[in-house]
Amino acid sequence: VRKLLVIGIGAGDPEQITVEAIRALNQVDVFFVVRKGAHKDDLVRLRQEICERYIERPGYRIVEIPESNRDRAPRNYRAEVVAWRARRAASWAAAIRDELREDGCGGFLVWGDPSLYDGTIAVLEQVRAAGEVALEYEVVPGITSVQALAAKHRIALNRIGGSVQITTGRRLAEGFPEEADDVVVMLDGGCAFKRIEPGGIEIYWGAYLGSDDELLVGGELAEVAGEIERVRDRARERKGWIMDTYLLRRKGSG
Ligand SMILES: C[S@@+](CC[C@H](N)C(=O)[O-])C[C@H]1O[C@@H](n2cnc3c(N)ncnc32)[C@H](O)[C@@H]1O
Repeated sequence: VRKLLVIGIGAGDPEQITVEAIRALNQVDVFFVVRKGAHKDDLVRLRQEICERYIERPGYRIVEIPESNRDRAPRNYRAEVVAWRARRAASWAAAIRDELREDGCGGFLVWGDPSLYDGTIAVLEQVRAAGEVALEYEVVPGITSVQALAAKHRIALNRIGGSVQITTGRRLAEGFPEEADDVVVMLDGGCAFKRIEPGGIEIYWGAYLGSDDELLVGGELAEVAGEIERVRDRARERKGWIMDTYLLRRKGSG
């Protein structure tokens, strides 16, 4: 059966790739690439750099899978994502069947790590469930943007015996989670931290982590929220896209 490797490649720094991932890259005959997002050129560049730097075996191919369109502001977010994944599964299945030999090894390079806000595993499960192409796959972990953020700010995510919640900007906009004191926020389209009561909260913010454009701001939310917004707006205007992640920490509890 066809074999696929889902390889986490880190969140922007080509040095943040594991030895296991480098070995996996060198087994792949066909890389499947899905182009997406405004930042796609920068992502494609990082992927290329990783392939050129670490793959020693000649003769691998790169196959682009066209991206399915998706409603970015749907009434029902979950239902839209489920329907979108089904469309993606159909085009991925066709690409795998047509472009990968039955004894071949295919690869998907995943930004950061496949375990965090990434649909690759879910889509491959759908491809398998549809039963049109028989395949096996393995997952190779990568450094997440959350780990890169914590390292750059030199912080641990949790405090003694505490837990950490990872959530999205969309969720945070509904309020700081009651049950959590340390909250990592990803996929924030627009400064959701401005929507919460800033008293007693610290923020550790980072954008373009691991790249030459990396930005870091940390401090009391009440004091630095405005600065983060300005830095963020300026950077987004200059580059045309932004990817940022932050930890919010309720002070004094732990
Ligand atoms: C679709 S998720 C993918 C997360 C990825 N799988 C990971 O392990 O980091 C994209 C979100 O990850 C965060 N992110 C990814 N790369 C980043 C980077 N280099 N700097 C800051 N945030 C990043 C941002 O919150 C962005 O909205």
